[in-house]
Amino acid sequence: MSIVEARGLTRRFDLSDPWVVRMLTFRKKRILTAVDDVSFSIEKGTTYALVGESGSGKSTIARMAVGLLAPSAGTITIDGTNLNDPALDPATRTALRRRIQMVFQSPYASLNPRWRVGAILAEPLHAFGLAAGRETARVAELLEQVGLSETDARRFPHEFSGGQRQRISIARALASEPDFIICDEPTSALDVSVQAQVLNLLKRLQRELGLTYLFITHDLAVVATMARRIGVLQHGKLVEEQDTIALFAAPRDPYTKMLLDAAPRLHPASATGR
Ligand SMILES: Nc1ncnc2c1ncn2[C@@H]1O[C@H](COP(=O)(O)OP(=O)(O)OP(=O)(O)O)[C@@H](O)[C@H]1O
Ligand SMILES: [Mg+2]
Repeated sequence: MSIVEARGLTRRFDLSDPWVVRMLTFRKKRILTAVDDVSFSIEKGTTYALVGESGSGKSTIARMAVGLLAPSAGTITIDGTNLNDPALDPATRTALRRRIQMVFQSPYASLNPRWRVGAILAEPLHAFGLAAGRETARVAELLEQVGLSETDARRFPHEFSGGQRQRISIARALASEPDFIICDEPTSALDVSVQAQVLNLLKRLQRELGLTYLFITHDLAVVATMARRIGVLQHGKLVEEQDTIALFAAPRDPYTKMLLDAAPRLHPASATGR
């Protein structure tokens, strides 16, 4: 059963000068189609990877999938509910917001530096009315789940390493008990060895909690062991989509081949995507 479905997802940005300037200079409107008619679906409990170069539209899709940005055309649905349906009642909207969480590339930017980790993790509990009366215990549980300790709740984000901070971001995403997590380059700011630890953590959490991931990266090596299925984005278009093992064994699109060539440490035998 698929939980997440994108159909004809499109997002345009108007990059034009203000109209007065256009009138005076006779310049035309400039519209950028950052995401162009993209469709994919993600099976419950699996990882779908979106791979592509900088500017290919990955984060724009992520922002639409989490409901931060409205599509110009097309839809994205979670269990059949359209995220951007204006007729959604507030309760359904809140429930969807709780179910879909995001982990960003830079935990420096996404964790409030003035808050202790305990407060950062308790915030979603309050927002969604979860673990009422046992917040402290739930925060301890979340920290343990991501390989940190209960006493870390008293510390501030800057007291942690990059990898630990990303664990805190993951714990914060888990706090709202989501079933769908969008990871936008969650490990690209980390050293390779730390990267592997965070990827393993994400995989373990997926197994334990039955999570569904949309995993965004420019690095095919990262998704070889993470994703069941891969979509390759180029200039906002999905140029190829295949199961991970098939894609590594026989890429169809020249652009995919180029990305694979750029990741020479990989070959099909190393692809063990779930
Ligand atoms: N709010 C915006 N206004 C105008 N243009 C935008 C906006 N957001 C994104 N873009 C443009 O849309 C295109 C896709 O951007 P996006 O951030 O989705 O790429 P990306 O694949 O995530 O790249 P990266 O790997 O660098 O993160 C880029 O050309 C970007 O400049
Ligand atoms: Mg991006």
